[in-house]
Amino acid sequence: MSEQPLPPGTRPEGARSEEEAARAVQQMFARIVPRYDLLNHLLSFGRDRRWRERTAEAFAARLAEPDSRALDLCCGTGDLALELARRSGGAVVGSDFVHAMLVRAHAKAHRQHQRLHWVEADALALPFSDASFDVVTAAFGFRNLANYPRGLEEIHRVLKPGGEVGILEFALPTGRVFGRVYGFYFRRVLPWVGRVVSGVRGPYSYLPASVEQFPDSAGFAAWMERVGFRLVSYRLWTGGTVALYRGRK
Ligand SMILES: C[S@@+](CC[C@H](N)C(=O)[O-])C[C@H]1O[C@@H](n2cnc3c(N)ncnc32)[C@H](O)[C@@H]1O
Repeated sequence: MSEQPLPPGTRPEGARSEEEAARAVQQMFARIVPRYDLLNHLLSFGRDRRWRERTAEAFAARLAEPDSRALDLCCGTGDLALELARRSGGAVVGSDFVHAMLVRAHAKAHRQHQRLHWVEADALALPFSDASFDVVTAAFGFRNLANYPRGLEEIHRVLKPGGEVGILEFALPTGRVFGRVYGFYFRRVLPWVGRVVSGVRGPYSYLPASVEQFPDSAGFAAWMERVGFRLVSYRLWTGGTVALYRGRK
Protein backbone atom coordinates (compact mmCIF):
# COMPACT_ATOMS: atom_id res chain seq x y z
CA MET A 1 0.00 0.00 0.00
CA SER A 2 1.20 3.59 -0.71
CA GLU A 3 3.18 5.68 1.78
CA GLN A 4 1.37 8.97 1.16
CA PRO A 5 1.80 11.46 4.03
CA LEU A 6 -1.44 11.78 6.01
CA PRO A 7 -2.61 15.42 6.00
CA PRO A 8 -2.82 16.74 9.55
CA GLY A 9 -6.59 16.89 9.53
CA THR A 10 -9.40 18.91 8.05
CA ARG A 11 -8.83 22.65 7.61
CA PRO A 12 -12.05 24.50 6.71
CA GLU A 13 -11.37 27.75 4.85
CA GLY A 14 -9.88 30.36 7.15
CA ALA A 15 -8.90 27.94 9.96
CA ARG A 16 -5.27 28.53 10.89
CA SER A 17 -4.85 25.89 13.59
CA GLU A 18 -6.24 22.58 14.75
CA GLU A 19 -8.37 24.32 17.40
CA GLU A 20 -9.85 26.75 14.86
CA ALA A 21 -10.57 23.88 12.47
CA ALA A 22 -12.42 21.89 15.16
CA ARG A 23 -14.43 24.95 16.20
CA ALA A 24 -15.36 25.74 12.58
CA VAL A 25 -16.52 22.13 12.02
CA GLN A 26 -18.57 22.16 15.21
CA GLN A 27 -20.27 25.45 14.31
CA MET A 28 -20.89 24.31 10.75
CA PHE A 29 -22.68 21.10 11.77
CA ALA A 30 -24.65 22.83 14.50
CA ARG A 31 -26.15 25.13 11.84
CA ILE A 32 -27.38 22.38 9.52
CA VAL A 33 -29.01 20.02 12.04
CA PRO A 34 -32.66 20.77 11.06
CA ARG A 35 -32.21 19.78 7.39
CA TYR A 36 -29.31 17.36 7.84
CA ASP A 37 -31.21 14.08 7.29
CA LEU A 38 -33.27 15.40 4.41
CA LEU A 39 -30.18 16.63 2.60
CA ASN A 40 -28.36 13.32 3.15
CA HIS A 41 -31.15 11.43 1.44
CA LEU A 42 -31.61 14.03 -1.29
CA LEU A 43 -27.97 14.53 -2.20
CA SER A 44 -27.17 10.80 -2.23
CA PHE A 45 -30.35 9.92 -4.16
CA GLY A 46 -31.36 7.79 -1.17
CA ARG A 47 -28.17 5.67 -1.24
CA ASP A 48 -26.97 6.84 2.18
CA ARG A 49 -29.36 4.52 4.01
CA ARG A 50 -28.00 1.50 2.17
CA TRP A 51 -24.38 2.56 2.80
CA ARG A 52 -25.02 2.62 6.55
CA GLU A 53 -26.91 -0.69 6.44
CA ARG A 54 -24.01 -2.33 4.59
CA THR A 55 -21.56 -0.93 7.13
CA ALA A 56 -23.56 -2.35 10.03
CA GLU A 57 -23.98 -5.67 8.19
CA ALA A 58 -20.19 -5.93 7.85
CA PHE A 59 -19.96 -6.19 11.66
CA ALA A 60 -23.21 -8.12 12.24
CA ALA A 61 -21.61 -11.26 13.67
CA ARG A 62 -19.56 -9.28 16.17
CA LEU A 63 -22.47 -7.05 17.14
CA ALA A 64 -24.80 -10.02 17.69
CA GLU A 65 -22.59 -11.46 20.43
CA PRO A 66 -24.21 -11.08 23.85
CA ASP A 67 -22.71 -8.12 25.72
CA SER A 68 -21.00 -6.72 22.60
CA ARG A 69 -20.07 -3.04 22.93
CA ALA A 70 -20.03 -0.81 19.86
CA LEU A 71 -19.16 2.87 19.48
CA ASP A 72 -20.33 5.00 16.57
CA LEU A 73 -18.13 8.10 16.42
CA CYS A 74 -19.30 11.38 14.89
CA CYS A 75 -22.77 9.83 14.98
CA GLY A 76 -24.65 12.98 13.95
CA THR A 77 -28.38 12.29 14.01
CA GLY A 78 -27.70 8.64 14.83
CA ASP A 79 -28.55 6.70 11.66
CA LEU A 80 -25.55 4.37 11.74
CA ALA A 81 -25.78 3.92 15.53
CA LEU A 82 -29.41 2.85 15.01
CA GLU A 83 -28.36 0.31 12.37
CA LEU A 84 -25.74 -1.07 14.76
CA ALA A 85 -28.31 -1.25 17.58
CA ARG A 86 -30.71 -3.27 15.40
CA ARG A 87 -28.04 -5.96 15.09
CA SER A 88 -26.63 -5.69 18.61
CA GLY A 89 -26.84 -8.26 21.37
CA GLY A 90 -25.27 -5.75 23.75
CA ALA A 91 -24.95 -1.97 23.83
CA VAL A 92 -24.21 0.77 21.32
CA VAL A 93 -22.86 4.22 22.15
CA GLY A 94 -23.32 7.06 19.67
CA SER A 95 -21.06 10.03 20.25
CA ASP A 96 -20.71 13.45 18.66
CA PHE A 97 -19.49 16.90 19.73
CA VAL A 98 -22.57 18.77 18.48
CA HIS A 99 -25.24 18.68 21.16
CA ALA A 100 -28.14 19.40 18.77
CA MET A 101 -27.19 16.37 16.64
CA LEU A 102 -27.47 14.13 19.71
CA VAL A 103 -30.85 15.62 20.62
CA ARG A 104 -32.12 14.59 17.16
CA ALA A 105 -30.53 11.15 17.48
CA HIS A 106 -32.15 10.59 20.86
CA ALA A 107 -35.57 11.55 19.48
CA LYS A 108 -35.21 9.02 16.64
CA ALA A 109 -34.12 6.18 18.88
CA HIS A 110 -37.27 5.56 20.87
CA ARG A 111 -37.65 1.89 19.85
CA GLN A 112 -34.01 0.97 20.49
CA HIS A 113 -33.76 2.76 23.82
CA GLN A 114 -32.33 -0.02 25.95
CA ARG A 115 -29.41 -0.68 23.65
CA LEU A 116 -28.46 2.90 22.75
CA HIS A 117 -26.63 5.57 24.72
CA TRP A 118 -25.65 9.02 23.52
CA VAL A 119 -22.47 10.67 24.72
CA GLU A 120 -21.38 14.20 23.85
CA ALA A 121 -17.66 13.90 23.21
CA ASP A 122 -14.78 14.96 21.00
CA ALA A 123 -13.57 12.04 18.89
CA LEU A 124 -10.00 13.27 19.46
CA ALA A 125 -10.24 12.94 23.26
CA LEU A 126 -12.73 10.20 23.99
CA PRO A 127 -14.02 9.79 27.55
CA PHE A 128 -13.74 5.97 27.37
CA SER A 129 -11.23 3.58 28.90
CA ASP A 130 -8.66 1.74 26.85
CA ALA A 131 -9.91 -1.51 25.30
CA SER A 132 -13.59 -0.93 25.98
CA PHE A 133 -15.29 -1.60 22.60
CA ASP A 134 -15.60 -4.58 20.25
CA VAL A 135 -16.53 -2.43 17.25
CA VAL A 136 -15.90 1.26 16.47
CA THR A 137 -17.48 2.88 13.42
CA ALA A 138 -17.64 6.36 11.89
CA ALA A 139 -19.78 7.33 8.89
CA PHE A 140 -18.80 10.48 6.99
CA GLY A 141 -17.36 11.87 10.21
CA PHE A 142 -13.69 10.92 10.29
CA ARG A 143 -12.80 13.29 7.40
CA ASN A 144 -13.98 16.18 9.58
CA LEU A 145 -11.48 15.56 12.36
CA ALA A 146 -8.86 18.23 12.86
CA ASN A 147 -6.15 15.62 13.48
CA TYR A 148 -6.38 12.36 11.50
CA PRO A 149 -3.47 10.48 13.14
CA ARG A 150 -4.87 11.25 16.60
CA GLY A 151 -8.35 10.17 15.45
CA LEU A 152 -6.98 6.80 14.36
CA GLU A 153 -4.98 6.46 17.59
CA GLU A 154 -8.05 7.16 19.72
CA ILE A 155 -10.05 4.50 17.86
CA HIS A 156 -7.18 2.05 18.31
CA ARG A 157 -6.93 2.89 22.02
CA VAL A 158 -10.62 2.32 22.85
CA LEU A 159 -10.87 -0.93 20.86
CA LYS A 160 -10.39 -4.23 22.65
CA PRO A 161 -7.60 -6.43 21.28
CA GLY A 162 -9.16 -8.17 18.27
CA GLY A 163 -11.81 -5.42 18.03
CA GLU A 164 -12.82 -4.07 14.63
CA VAL A 165 -13.04 -0.61 13.10
CA GLY A 166 -15.19 0.48 10.16
CA ILE A 167 -14.77 3.95 8.65
CA LEU A 168 -17.21 4.93 5.92
CA GLU A 169 -16.11 7.93 3.90
CA PHE A 170 -16.67 9.65 0.60
CA ALA A 171 -14.21 8.88 -2.17
CA LEU A 172 -13.64 10.34 -5.62
CA PRO A 173 -14.36 8.01 -8.54
CA THR A 174 -11.47 7.73 -10.96
CA GLY A 175 -13.21 6.55 -14.16
CA ARG A 176 -12.79 9.09 -16.99
CA VAL A 177 -16.44 9.58 -17.85
CA PHE A 178 -18.16 8.87 -14.53
CA GLY A 179 -15.36 10.71 -12.71
CA ARG A 180 -16.11 13.86 -14.70
CA VAL A 181 -19.88 13.63 -14.39
CA TYR A 182 -19.62 12.98 -10.66
CA GLY A 183 -17.05 15.78 -10.27
CA PHE A 184 -19.48 18.24 -11.82
CA TYR A 185 -22.31 17.03 -9.57
CA PHE A 186 -20.18 16.97 -6.42
CA ARG A 187 -18.39 20.30 -6.87
CA ARG A 188 -21.15 22.36 -8.51
CA VAL A 189 -24.63 20.91 -8.09
CA LEU A 190 -24.35 19.50 -4.56
CA PRO A 191 -23.11 22.74 -2.91
CA TRP A 192 -25.87 24.70 -4.61
CA VAL A 193 -28.67 22.28 -3.58
CA GLY A 194 -27.20 22.07 -0.07
CA ARG A 195 -27.14 25.83 0.31
CA VAL A 196 -30.66 26.33 -1.03
CA VAL A 197 -32.27 23.57 1.07
CA SER A 198 -30.35 24.18 4.31
CA GLY A 199 -30.46 27.94 3.96
CA VAL A 200 -26.85 28.02 5.15
CA ARG A 201 -23.87 29.08 3.06
CA GLY A 202 -20.66 27.13 3.62
CA PRO A 203 -21.15 23.57 4.86
CA TYR A 204 -22.09 22.06 1.51
CA SER A 205 -19.14 23.75 -0.21
CA TYR A 206 -16.88 22.49 2.56
CA LEU A 207 -18.05 18.93 1.81
CA PRO A 208 -16.38 18.51 -1.64
CA ALA A 209 -13.37 20.58 -0.51
CA SER A 210 -12.79 18.30 2.49
CA VAL A 211 -13.16 15.15 0.39
CA GLU A 212 -10.55 16.48 -2.02
CA GLN A 213 -8.14 17.13 0.86
CA PHE A 214 -8.65 13.63 2.26
CA PRO A 215 -6.09 10.94 1.33
CA ASP A 216 -6.97 8.49 -1.43
CA SER A 217 -8.22 5.07 -0.39
CA ALA A 218 -4.89 3.24 -0.61
CA GLY A 219 -3.16 6.09 1.25
CA PHE A 220 -5.67 6.10 4.08
CA ALA A 221 -5.56 2.31 4.40
CA ALA A 222 -1.76 2.53 4.66
CA TRP A 223 -2.16 5.01 7.51
CA MET A 224 -4.47 2.68 9.37
CA GLU A 225 -1.73 0.06 9.18
CA ARG A 226 0.85 2.53 10.47
CA VAL A 227 -1.24 3.24 13.53
CA GLY A 228 -1.27 -0.49 14.25
CA PHE A 229 -4.43 -1.88 12.66
CA ARG A 230 -4.12 -5.36 11.15
CA LEU A 231 -6.02 -6.92 8.26
CA VAL A 232 -6.71 -3.48 6.80
CA SER A 233 -8.90 -3.47 3.71
CA TYR A 234 -11.28 -1.18 1.90
CA ARG A 235 -14.18 -1.60 -0.46
CA LEU A 236 -15.53 1.00 -2.85
CA TRP A 237 -19.28 1.28 -3.36
CA THR A 238 -21.61 3.13 -5.73
CA GLY A 239 -19.14 3.63 -8.54
CA GLY A 240 -16.26 4.48 -6.18
CA THR A 241 -18.05 7.42 -4.51
CA VAL A 242 -17.82 5.94 -1.01
CA ALA A 243 -15.34 3.63 0.69
CA LEU A 244 -15.65 1.40 3.74
CA TYR A 245 -12.27 0.97 5.46
CA ARG A 246 -11.92 -1.93 7.85
CA GLY A 247 -9.22 -3.04 10.22
CA ARG A 248 -8.62 -5.01 13.39
CA LYS A 249 -6.69 -4.17 16.53
C1 LIG B 1 -21.19 14.46 8.06
S1 LIG B 1 -21.74 14.25 9.69
C2 LIG B 1 -21.98 12.50 9.79
C3 LIG B 1 -23.06 12.12 10.77
C4 LIG B 1 -23.47 10.66 10.76
N1 LIG B 1 -22.39 9.78 11.13
C5 LIG B 1 -24.05 10.25 9.44
O1 LIG B 1 -23.69 9.20 8.92
O2 LIG B 1 -24.93 10.97 8.94
C6 LIG B 1 -20.27 14.49 10.62
C7 LIG B 1 -20.48 14.52 12.11
O3 LIG B 1 -19.21 14.46 12.73
C8 LIG B 1 -19.25 15.25 13.88
N2 LIG B 1 -17.87 15.58 14.26
C9 LIG B 1 -16.94 16.20 13.51
N3 LIG B 1 -15.79 16.33 14.20
C10 LIG B 1 -16.00 15.76 15.41
C11 LIG B 1 -15.19 15.57 16.56
N4 LIG B 1 -13.93 16.01 16.63
N5 LIG B 1 -15.73 14.93 17.62
C12 LIG B 1 -17.00 14.50 17.59
N6 LIG B 1 -17.84 14.67 16.54
C13 LIG B 1 -17.33 15.28 15.46
C14 LIG B 1 -20.10 16.45 13.49
O4 LIG B 1 -20.62 17.12 14.59
C15 LIG B 1 -21.17 15.77 12.63
O5 LIG B 1 -22.29 15.43 13.37
